[in-house]
Parts: sequence; C-alpha cells; structure tokens
Amino acid sequence: TEITWSAESAEKGGYAHFTIKEIYEQPKALKDTMTGRIVPGKKVKLDDIHITKEMLEDYSRIYIIACGTAYNAGLIGKVAIENLARIPVEVDVASEFRYRNPIIDAKTLVIVISQSGETADTLAVSREAQKFGARVIAITNVVGSSIAREADDVFYTWAGPEIGVASTKAYLTMLVAIYSIGIYFAELLGTQQESYLENLKKELLTLPEKVASIIADTTRIEHFADKIHTEKDVFFLGRGLDYQIAVEASLKLKELSYIHSEAYPGGELKHGSIALIEDDITVIASLTQRDLLEKMQSNIKEVVSRGAKVMAITFEDNHDVEHFSDEVIIIPNTMDLIAPILAVVPLQLLAYYVALYKGLDVDKPRNLAKSVTVE
Ligand code: G6P
Repeated sequence: TEITWSAESAEKGGYAHFTIKEIYEQPKALKDTMTGRIVPGKKVKLDDIHITKEMLEDYSRIYIIACGTAYNAGLIGKVAIENLARIPVEVDVASEFRYRNPIIDAKTLVIVISQSGETADTLAVSREAQKFGARVIAITNVVGSSIAREADDVFYTWAGPEIGVASTKAYLTMLVAIYSIGIYFAELLGTQQESYLENLKKELLTLPEKVASIIADTTRIEHFADKIHTEKDVFFLGRGLDYQIAVEASLKLKELSYIHSEAYPGGELKHGSIALIEDDITVIASLTQRDLLEKMQSNIKEVVSRGAKVMAITFEDNHDVEHFSDEVIIIPNTMDLIAPILAVVPLQLLAYYVALYKGLDVDKPRNLAKSVTVE
C-alpha cells in the first residue's frame, strides 16, 4: 500500500489548509488570550504592561501603528480605546507614519501591533518613537520577537503559530489585546462605570463559545461564496465599528481570492462610490452597531434600489434586514463595542471559500509573504 502521509498534512490536523484550521482554532485562541487577564469581578491584569495611573494621565495622545491586518486591528483599537479611556488615539500604517514627521514626545504613548513581531516598518517606528522619548507597548504573537524585545511593555496574544499567510486567529486575538488594554486604562483612569466594564469583561468571556457557534455551520456562507466567486468587484459596507470590519473583510477577500473589493462607510457611499453600484453588483454589509442600524439599513436600501445583491451579517434579533437582503448571516448577540470579534468570522470564512471555489492556493496567496522583514 502507498503511504500518502506527510509531515505537512499531519500538521494540518485533518484540515485541508492551515487557513481553515486557524479559523477553527479561534475559540481556543480567544480563550487562551483572555485567561488570567480577564476575570469577572477583578480588574484586568496585564503582567507585562507597567503603566501606572500617573503615567497614563500624562499622555496627551496615543498612536497605534502597524501594517496589514494588524493595522486593521488598530482601526478598531482607536474606537475602543477612545471610548474606554477617553484619550485621543490616532492610527497609521507604519510605512506612512515613519516618513511624515509625526509629533512624538514623552507625552506620547505608542502601541505597535505585529503578529510576527518582525515587520521592518513597524520595528522602525517603535525604535524611532523611543528615541523621541515615547513609551512603546507591543502587541505581538511571537515571544522574544524583535518588536517584543525592544518595546517597554508587551501584550502577548496567545493565538499559537499562524501559518496561513492571511491572518485570521492572530487578528481576533489582537482585538482581545486592544479591548484588554482599553479596559485596563479605563480601570486606572476611572473613565467608565464599573458595572459597564464588568459587563464587558463577562461578555468578552462568552465570545469563544459564540465564535464556535458561528463556525459550526458554514453552509450559508459556502453557498454565498459559490454564488460570488466569479465576481470582479465586491463592496463591503458598514458604519461605526462595522466599517472597520468591512476594511478587514475586504483585505481578506483580496488576499485569498484576488477579487477586487472596497470597503466603504455606509454614509459616505453617496459621496462618490455609489456611481459604481449597478445591476447585480455584490454588496456585503455588516450591521452590528445598534445605534446605527436604521441608518445602515437605509444605506443598504440605496444600493438595493440600484440593483445590488446584498449579503448582510447581523444579530439574531434584527429581522428587518431579511426584507431587503438576498442572504442573511446571523451571529449571536453581544455588546456593540466587541461585536467585531464575531462579525468578522463569517467574512473570513467567505474569503476562504471563495478562494476554494476559484481553486487558489489559500495558504500562500500569490505575491504575499507572511512577514515582511525588509522595507
Ligand atoms: C504581511 C502579511 C499580512 C500581515 C502584515 C503585517 O504583509 O502578509 O498578513 O498583516 O504583513 O504583519 P505583522 O506580523 O506585523 O502583523
């Protein structure tokens, strides 16, 4: 008999690709990243972050700097940290920030995010920021990486090794890192009601199970992937945190399936891009921000009336969406601020299945590298 076993297929643990294996590892990655840090009834505990209330009160601004998917996590970090800690946060891609003569001094806190901890541009920003007297917190998945070693404070995500070039589980744990740091700051500064923070912690702890319930049944997503895999252009829409999710979903689809896509804030569409909405174009919308639901629904109606076919992602109690969407993916209810952790999962799966239908190399998309260690 022929032996078809290989070391690589063994590592994939029965999955066809690392990418899908890593999507399925997300509940565990989330749980591992929260363990010991987020505990109900206790303040958030971050062992490798040594920032005191006094230091924090002195920071006039925070920069979050990263590349690629880590940058997209940073976009959510801005909203989360500003909401929780009430400190202004700016987000930039490392290769832009480096060369734009940014205002950095001892009153600046810099958070760099990097799965690998080795991205050249991000490392350069960390070094430069320290030279100007700023303190640097690194969020990274690799213990002992250059970015981790050089930073003043570190938050390790416990996603485990990520092999698929397109980031999935590392991204989700970066979001956990951001929420943890945001709550930690809020607890130091007293910027939020304790009961709200307590609810947030309890709710975060339910997310591993909720993610598991999303990935338990992928039939609707596979069906939609089949339907759109021959498309040339796709639009992702969202408002509030749903927009940041749209940005990451669009990147995922591009990386894995090579379909051109754009992410737009729902309310901005009418200022130009709606000119591109025509019969049969695919629009993927996420609707998880309760205050913006009605506004987002009218944005969807605007594209439907121009012939778009819509896939919507929303909470189980939002039935209105069914009336004007071709496909609805339901995710479990959660608090708006942390909804991105759930909303992005069906969109990761969508990108994966579209790539499969196109017969592409999902784990190693063309032209991409897992970690870019040169400028
Ligand atoms: C590369 C990868 C992306 C990743 C980016 C940043 O471009 O292909 O998936 O998001 O680098 O990587 P980092 O390790 O710094 O998070």
